[in-house]
Amino acid sequence: MSALSTTYLGLSLRSPLVASAGPLTGSMDSLRKLEDAGAAAVVLPSVFEEQVRNEEAFVDHFLEIQSEAQPEAQRFFPDPELYPVQRPRQLELLQEAKAALEIPVIASLNGATSQGWKELALQMKEAGADAIELNLYEVAADPSVDSAELENRQCELVRELSECLKLPLAVKLSPYYSALANMAGKLEQAGAGALVLFNRFYQPDFDCERRTASRRLGLSTSREHLLPQTWISILRSQRQLDLAASSGMHQAGDVLGALMAGADIVMSTSALLKNGPEHIGTLTRELVEWMEEHDYPHIDDLRGCMQRKYLEDPSLVERANYLTLLHQGEW
Ligand SMILES: Cc1cc2nc3c(=O)[nH]c(=O)nc-3n(C[C@H](O)[C@H](O)[C@H](O)COP(=O)(O)O)c2cc1C
Repeated sequence: MSALSTTYLGLSLRSPLVASAGPLTGSMDSLRKLEDAGAAAVVLPSVFEEQVRNEEAFVDHFLEIQSEAQPEAQRFFPDPELYPVQRPRQLELLQEAKAALEIPVIASLNGATSQGWKELALQMKEAGADAIELNLYEVAADPSVDSAELENRQCELVRELSECLKLPLAVKLSPYYSALANMAGKLEQAGAGALVLFNRFYQPDFDCERRTASRRLGLSTSREHLLPQTWISILRSQRQLDLAASSGMHQAGDVLGALMAGADIVMSTSALLKNGPEHIGTLTRELVEWMEEHDYPHIDDLRGCMQRKYLEDPSLVERANYLTLLHQGEW
């Protein structure tokens, strides 16, 4: 057993360092480079709910036009064999990746309703996905939907998917739930095998001169690792399901902090985009060096040592710490 070997969603991994969904996991060339550099698993770019719905809508629209234009249109109806709903490109990539890579390949779905695309998750399973990651990216901007309704809908989706899939299911969350610890428990009960903490909320910048919103998706910085680290420290003391740290994992110190908080794995997109796929090798090497210097034979010997219940002062990760900091002027 190597010093870094671990498990995630029941999969055996050579290390806790996983490449999260992003441009580098979107081509066979960079997927191979990630595997060669030491990535323990890869998460492919998401298939978006809208992508699937639009493709279905396109075929529906085509059928409608044909039937309206020709009363005897039956014969013009496209043969579903010839005009299938186009398979998202990610499914082809998944099949190729499964054939070419030895490390586990996780397929990703991005959506928040169950309409019409559970089928796709089953196709991902058939294509060989080792697990599915469901990214519940949703901006709760509808004032008529309260948090209970939104959360119940999301939990129901997780329940339906986990029941029909019978494949390990991770749920990627935003940090903006009003009761995240409670939601984590509900997702675990609904069948989530892991939580990925966190996705990043896309916040468009404004071009004030032109009064337009920019479409740039900024990369994270190392500073952002504190948010997943804090929440993993809290949730590790409460829940049994696996926890993946995502956001701001740029340096070996960020990875170490997440593992000490209790993460099962650590994911990276921005740092690999900035530094190239080889960066995962650098992180792995630096992690091993640190463990050797500090006499930790295996990551299990340090994992979770900084989870909330083991902290000398557990309030450090909660509100009391905020108050103390403000009053002591420690900034
Ligand atoms: C260019 C780009 C594309 C991304 N595409 C996806 C995606 O398809 N699905 C997904 O769940 N997350 C996607 N993400 C989010 C990342 O997987 C990751 O959760 C986020 O960037 C935070 O991690 P990081 O700080 O290591 O970048 C993308 C991120 C970037 C920068």
